[in-house]
Amino acid sequence: MARVTFSNVKKRYAGERQDTIENFNLEAESGQFLVLVGPSGCGKSTLLRMLAGLEDATEGDILIDGKRVNDVSSKDRNIAMVFQNYALYPHMSVFENIAFGLRLRKLPKAEIQERVVRAARILDIEPFLSKQPRQLSGGQRQRVALGRAIVREPEVFLMDEPLSNLDAKLRVQMREEIGKLYRKLGRTFIYVTHDQIEAMTMGTKIVVMRSGKILQADTPENIYNRPANMFVASFIGSPPINFVHGRIKGDEAKVIFDTRRYGLHIPAEKAGILLDKGYMNKQVVLGVRAEDIVCKASAFAEDEFIGMQYKSTVEMKELLGSDTYLYLHNKEHRLVARVSPRIRFEEGQEVHVGLEGESLLFFDSGTEELLC
Ligand SMILES: Nc1ncnc2c1ncn2[C@@H]1O[C@H](COP(=O)(O)OP(=O)(O)OP(=O)(O)O)[C@@H](O)[C@H]1O
Ligand SMILES: [Mg+2]
Repeated sequence: MARVTFSNVKKRYAGERQDTIENFNLEAESGQFLVLVGPSGCGKSTLLRMLAGLEDATEGDILIDGKRVNDVSSKDRNIAMVFQNYALYPHMSVFENIAFGLRLRKLPKAEIQERVVRAARILDIEPFLSKQPRQLSGGQRQRVALGRAIVREPEVFLMDEPLSNLDAKLRVQMREEIGKLYRKLGRTFIYVTHDQIEAMTMGTKIVVMRSGKILQADTPENIYNRPANMFVASFIGSPPINFVHGRIKGDEAKVIFDTRRYGLHIPAEKAGILLDKGYMNKQVVLGVRAEDIVCKASAFAEDEFIGMQYKSTVEMKELLGSDTYLYLHNKEHRLVARVSPRIRFEEGQEVHVGLEGESLLFFDSGTEELLC
């Protein structure tokens, strides 16, 4: 089992004026499934390549189980990496592709045979061992690439968007395969993805990055329910979280989120925190997830709803089968709500909108940090 540590790691590519990775500190505990997410170019692949020894760190220490590996060669790091484009050898059979790393390490023939067949069974590609990569589908090729990683029995698996070339159905299947593999092997996985469902379902810890820095490293639940700032809140979640700008007003007895057009009563607990933090009369941003918006044709009863409510018009609706998205418009702002497809609203219809008090998020409008 292996713990992976980045300590004050910096990366500046030769000839570049800016750091791609800035003072990066992160620990992946032994046996953890750590997922890296962030916009294109934020440095995810750079981090994996430095860990795998394919790229030098400009400064700082990369540790595996507390041992500095900056100067250890890639092949001696006990790490296997799976790339987005599979990187298979086209003229070798599937068997030879999987066996390649073991042959380099001069393992006995019988052991190579045994390991390759065992990996092929796990991945359900035994019938293809004598074929060439071009004779396989994308999903099968991706499994060969995984096979090549598994046979090396590494302490750490690095995967850089391994499923992004696959169609939606295969992705779901391979997601399950990798999840099973992780549970079976109990090794440390570091996984890069653009896919939020992969991040949320596979990760034991998610690291959200922007411009070479960590914005939040936390459990999937906390990343979703307690995002550290507006960027994290909007990066994770589909449809994206709604933001509404307003000001905190009122008095101790009744605290209002005032958008100028609407004054929404803030539930007591959140109101208390906002006042304690000195936000009376200050500008804030309200974050509301699509599933926390309740829509009704008639007004909510006084005691039916603890939260905030106002009226809005259904500008557009999207039927997704399992859910319906309602685009609600009220002259001042637009919100997207996710509702049950059994609730039927027409476009142009006026609806009563309720915002769940418990799940409302308030952010500082300047720093964009989460307040409560
Ligand atoms: N060999 C290189 N030389 C110079 N700059 C590089 C090199 N490789 C990457 N970069 C730059 O470093 C930054 C981070 O690149 P990286 O590939 O790590 O991003 P990423 O987060 O993996 O993006 P994506 O999601 O698009 O794969 C980018 O601005 C990129 O242009
Ligand atoms: Mg990348």
